[in-house]
Amino acid sequence: HISSLFALEVLDSRGNPTVEACVTLNDGSSGRAIVPSGASTGCREAVELRDDDPARYQGRGVLKAVANINDLIAPALIGQRADEQRRLDRLMCELDGTDSKSQLGANAILAVSMALTRAAASHHHQPLYRYLGGSNAHLLPVPCLNVINGGRHASNNLDIQEFKIVPHQASSFAEAIRMGEETFHALKTLLADSGLGTGIGDEGGFAPMLTSNEQAVELILQAIEAAGYRPGEDISLALDPAASEMADTGGYRFSHSDNALRSADEMIELWQAWLDRYPILLLEDPLGEEDWAGWETLTRQLAGRVELVGDDLLCTNPELLQRAIDRGVANSVLIKPNQIGTVTETLDCVALANRHGYGCYLSHRSGDSEDTFIADLAVAIGCGHMKTGSGCRSERVAKFNQLLRIEHELGSQASFAGRGTFRTRSA
Ligand code: PGA
Ligand code: ZN
Repeated sequence: HISSLFALEVLDSRGNPTVEACVTLNDGSSGRAIVPSGASTGCREAVELRDDDPARYQGRGVLKAVANINDLIAPALIGQRADEQRRLDRLMCELDGTDSKSQLGANAILAVSMALTRAAASHHHQPLYRYLGGSNAHLLPVPCLNVINGGRHASNNLDIQEFKIVPHQASSFAEAIRMGEETFHALKTLLADSGLGTGIGDEGGFAPMLTSNEQAVELILQAIEAAGYRPGEDISLALDPAASEMADTGGYRFSHSDNALRSADEMIELWQAWLDRYPILLLEDPLGEEDWAGWETLTRQLAGRVELVGDDLLCTNPELLQRAIDRGVANSVLIKPNQIGTVTETLDCVALANRHGYGCYLSHRSGDSEDTFIADLAVAIGCGHMKTGSGCRSERVAKFNQLLRIEHELGSQASFAGRGTFRTRSA
């Protein structure tokens, strides 16, 4: 039974306040968790409660969310069994009483939800991935490393937010990380040799000023070769244009580069042209969160060639995912626990995707922390591929390190997902 539950204000990787919750059970087991925070957030995400007190942290303090845990959630949960996750998550949602979790804050609710999972796993003497995923949890994901950052995650002139490398032709997760890191370092050398910036953005990728979005792709392809790998064969690409951020009257504005305005149809043509030229396996948010009509056309034209992931569009929300399934939109869903706000609802979204043949692409946030919950979650749900940063920054490599530990612990039982996990016909 839960004997104590409290929260405190800690920091995320951008130096902004965030919530940590700590749960202790009466047998001495305990669990704690820190919630992450996005920058290019979807408008239908569960609400991250901030204090809006300009006197502290430029209004970004989370003392209200912390107080909601200490004063409202703790009294309701103390004395309950931590392993009744679904019941306790529902209880917190009822206590909140809103669809968007705006009363208590999704940051408060998720911190407790994750801490409960950890405490329950510890109580049952199981590693988190096995407690959540059962005895068959054994699949290590392909890491998609975000090696060039643009959009909201950097202050350069790239519109596309994430240029990712996908080292799928590896025999293990450890090997995939090695291939990814070797390419990351080759890219650094290439940038430096070309007189381009090697400073990094929020997710640990380089954030150089370039002449075009295409140049970012060309540089990455060169880096893959310089590291001794074959683009498309050993290492492919994934992009997150985060197009909701580009939405403007009449279409999509490339405001970081040439300020061009493209209609939805022109965007689809653009991605089609990129798919013809470059070995791209996955496109996330290639159109905006309000553009369901555009998404329908895009899915009809591109599904089968490439995995089409809804991030801002779907917000890890089972209701939005159901709508996508009904309308034939996207073929994969981004999974970010803090978009929906409980572990239970995150797992419900994954289950719905699985039932309908949609992919699940697990993700960190651009403001993250040393918390490695999503590393265990990746193996628990067997998602096959995930994004949790580039080749550096401890809040990113912490997840890699946890996955390396899990692979080591599983030994010969571990499998590496590989290319077949992407929703592409040629896979
Ligand atoms: P965010 O970005 O965490 O800033 O929302 C990540 C993404 O768009 O996938
Ligand atoms: Zn995204």
